[in-house]
Amino acid sequence: MEPGNVTSAPDGKALVAYFSVPETDSAENMNAEEENSTVVIDGEVLGNTQYVAYVIQENTEANLFRIEPVTAYPMDHAELEKVATEEKRQNARPEPSAQVEDMEQYDTIFLGYPNWYGDLPMILYSFLEQYDLAGKTIIPFVTSGASGFSGTIGTIQELQPDATVITDGLSITRAVVQDAEPEILIWLNGMGYAG
Ligand SMILES: Cc1cc2nc3c(=O)[nH]c(=O)nc-3n(C[C@H](O)[C@H](O)[C@H](O)COP(=O)(O)O)c2cc1C
Repeated sequence: MEPGNVTSAPDGKALVAYFSVPETDSAENMNAEEENSTVVIDGEVLGNTQYVAYVIQENTEANLFRIEPVTAYPMDHAELEKVATEEKRQNARPEPSAQVEDMEQYDTIFLGYPNWYGDLPMILYSFLEQYDLAGKTIIPFVTSGASGFSGTIGTIQELQPDATVITDGLSITRAVVQDAEPEILIWLNGMGYAG
């Protein structure tokens, strides 16, 4: 990952909050599911959404916050699908393990997540119900197999009715995510970041 040009956020202080589940922590001997879910940078294994979050963070003056559950998700793909399916069926609200410190200070929240079953992962509901983001700008970004955002931007707006939710967020498919840095920079540029 090349370090980007850092410029001031156009609208004040920004946060990159993301959720991502790399399905392995080893760069060696990955199976297809693990390769699909990861980007390896200098031997470091990152989740797809985590990689995009890092690129955004490196090219803005944003702080970085990883949304993680108290109970970690299984790395095994089949197990992860089982847990995620059950959470969705129960309309669960998995508890995040940490809170954003002083959310008040941020004007802009880049919010990143993988598409899970055409929806937000349930922990995103937990996150969005935990804070009042009224008056802030939420800039969604998603990674997926192919589905893109599905209806998630509308869901974010429903959960945060008094926030401005940017409707042309960044959607990257996992097949191209490792080569997506130029596209991410163009998108940031279009919003006045990373000059
Ligand atoms: C539980 C689960 C459900 C998924 N559902 C979808 C889906 O409905 N549509 C899609 O295009 N991709 C789906 N995917 C693929 C992920 O969105 C994709 O691999 C994403 O880039 C993973 O990001 P991450 O590595 O940051 O967790 C799903 C993956 C998982 C684990």
